[in-house]
Amino acid sequence: MQDQIEQLVARALEELAGTPAADLDDWRRRYTGRSGELTGILRGIGKLSAGERPLAGQLANAARQRLESAFEDRKTVVEAESSADVEAIDVTLPGYRPVVGGLHPVTQTLRDIRRVFANIGFRAVDSPEVEWDEYNFEKLNIPRDHPARDMWDTFFVDNPDRPGEMLLRTHTSPAQARVMEQTDPPIRIITPGRCYRYEDVDASHEATFFQVEGLAVDTNITMADLRGTLEYFARALFGEDRRIRIRGSYFPFTEPSCEAEMSCHVCGGDGCRVCGRTGWIEMLGAGMVHPDVLEGVGYDHRKYSGFAFGMGVERIAMLRYGIDDIRHFYRNDLRFLRQFN
Ligand code: PHE
Repeated sequence: MQDQIEQLVARALEELAGTPAADLDDWRRRYTGRSGELTGILRGIGKLSAGERPLAGQLANAARQRLESAFEDRKTVVEAESSADVEAIDVTLPGYRPVVGGLHPVTQTLRDIRRVFANIGFRAVDSPEVEWDEYNFEKLNIPRDHPARDMWDTFFVDNPDRPGEMLLRTHTSPAQARVMEQTDPPIRIITPGRCYRYEDVDASHEATFFQVEGLAVDTNITMADLRGTLEYFARALFGEDRRIRIRGSYFPFTEPSCEAEMSCHVCGGDGCRVCGRTGWIEMLGAGMVHPDVLEGVGYDHRKYSGFAFGMGVERIAMLRYGIDDIRHFYRNDLRFLRQFN
């Protein structure tokens, strides 16, 4: 009986050492289960003589305990192995390609515009987005009730201390007055920044958009300087063979005022869909700083003159990348944005 038990234990333990998780319960059933082998031996004890029984009983119970605790140990080992499998790193698998973000097309265009003007000595300055009526309009020669205010549909901001005087700037031109008030000529600056208009949003109008304002003031600044600067800009951004033309326009803060157009960068001036078959593309508004504006900031308009221009950055980006709807920019559709990575 003793031999029989020892052999059984030896065999069971050897088998257990190689048993995978899925077969553990089966092992237990076959050896220590209700109709398992060890249980069979235990049952045989009853047939032994009264003198042999106690020892055989002890041996069988000890064997049962060994097998049970071996079973628990094996189970712990097998479970640890399978969870280790999940965490293991297979170094032979190809790596994950990290998702790399890109700059927004408007940001890219803004940076390029800044670079182009930095190259000819225009410093970039900031100006507030929440502005006083005084700077957005009055110092720019647009008094209250002036019909030209209709050119800029305005979001006003509630300010109990100065009702009706605070607004979201409708253009970057207030920066002209701010910079001139704080600096003596010569001045050569650009102010890139966000503007707001109470617009009916459509393919070419957004309520929020970026402008870049340019301002140069010195003795003897003329329209020719404006023209040369804009031509340099158009060539730097759209290609060396761009030409510029100037058409009369109206802004209350410039005199004379103009719109600058460049020869179409798609058809070269022959006429195509992009330029509406005219061969020319409207680029920006500009002009010579109005004498009243110069005087308003304390400059002697007989001594100093200046030019100013203001361009829409989304518009420039649309032209560069062939985008036909301004609303794409602020929809955050990754299918659109990823094209500029
Ligand atoms: N501020 C004008 C606009 O938003 C553009 C402009 C700027 C025109 C500077 C002339 C000079 O329409």
